[in-house]
Amino acid sequence: MKSLNENLEKILQSPTVAMADKVNLLKSQGKKIIGLQTGDPDFKTHPAIVEFATEQIRAGKTHYGASQGALHVREAIVEKLERDNGLFYDPKKEVILTHGGIHAFYLALQSIINKGDEFLIPDPTWATHANMATLLGGRAVRVMATPENNFLPTFADWEKAITPKTKSVIINYPSNPTGVYPSREYLQELVDLCIKNDLTIISDEVYENLFFEEHPVSIASLPGAKERTLVINSLSKTYAMTGWRVGYLSGPEKVIQNALKASQHSITCVAPFIQEAAGYALSNPEIQQYAGEMRQGYNRRRDLVMRIAEREASSKVVCTAPMGAFYYFLDMRSLGISSSEICDRLLEEANVGTVAGSAFGTMGEGFLRMTIAASDQEVEHGFMEILKWAKNQ
Ligand SMILES: Cc1ncc(COP(=O)(O)O)c(C=O)c1O
Repeated sequence: MKSLNENLEKILQSPTVAMADKVNLLKSQGKKIIGLQTGDPDFKTHPAIVEFATEQIRAGKTHYGASQGALHVREAIVEKLERDNGLFYDPKKEVILTHGGIHAFYLALQSIINKGDEFLIPDPTWATHANMATLLGGRAVRVMATPENNFLPTFADWEKAITPKTKSVIINYPSNPTGVYPSREYLQELVDLCIKNDLTIISDEVYENLFFEEHPVSIASLPGAKERTLVINSLSKTYAMTGWRVGYLSGPEKVIQNALKASQHSITCVAPFIQEAAGYALSNPEIQQYAGEMRQGYNRRRDLVMRIAEREASSKVVCTAPMGAFYYFLDMRSLGISSSEICDRLLEEANVGTVAGSAFGTMGEGFLRMTIAASDQEVEHGFMEILKWAKNQ
């Protein structure tokens, strides 16, 4: 066999998925693990969505469907973007339905990338952003976002990273893993920087509905931004629909036309009964209410963790309540043990699954990502085990 894809040789498996696989294997072997590693809501998909999708299957929506997504589903997406984000798109030309947020991100990159293009990506962030850029022949340039600066890159650091090859800035707010999202002023400064340097903005907003402070601002809604921004969103986190694999990409017509070609030649279309379920979820008021209730559930667990942290007053596990998303990014730097060792040992010695902060970049070293998208009992029990383990180091 001749050599394999050299871009794939440069990247590793997804660390978060790999950890989830490891925990699932241990569980299948009968080991009792408290799984706080995965960004998958423990809430159920609302039964009305399940019912609706089942009816669609029975009604015969089981063949190929519209490759861009059925028009009425795109209309539901456009209405959502207007309602929640103050964004206005043409459902015919500026939106495409995708196979989850990850596929929306793939299509966004695939639509604009040329060999050697550089993509500025904050560090730490979700590993797929950098890996996908590498996989598609680009170069991921990490821009340090220090804990001292609330995990936001400074503008001096953004500017320093820009070269003539820079194509785009990739952001994800609320952030996985830190939960941080910046102010409107910060985002506007970033837009201005992108205008000055003619950069595209790719904004991954899959955690947009999981916020515990004011509603996060979609960068595309800021003056000068929309014509250079590709917005990624998904039903996975907001509606507890991770397994349905459905999301969407919105942006300038020319990009969406490219995305459509890339999608037709990779997945053909999202399964039609899932398209219908997505349209139903996005437009049904009862489902929006359910999404709000789930957010309250995460908020309750966020408070639960903070209460325990205050009570236990651990000097080894420093907690900051996340602004959004559903993770705690625990600061365990004072232990002087690498994140990956902490993560491995917690699994072996305390039976708690987490993700090493270093999986998200060098700035995540010494941190541990713990999800609160698990039951209250699991979050409480798992967090207590982490504190107990840290105390004995
Ligand atoms: C930042 C970020 N973007 C995208 C995704 C992918 O979401 P989806 O299930 O919609 O593909 C994830 C999943 O964890 C994520 O953390």
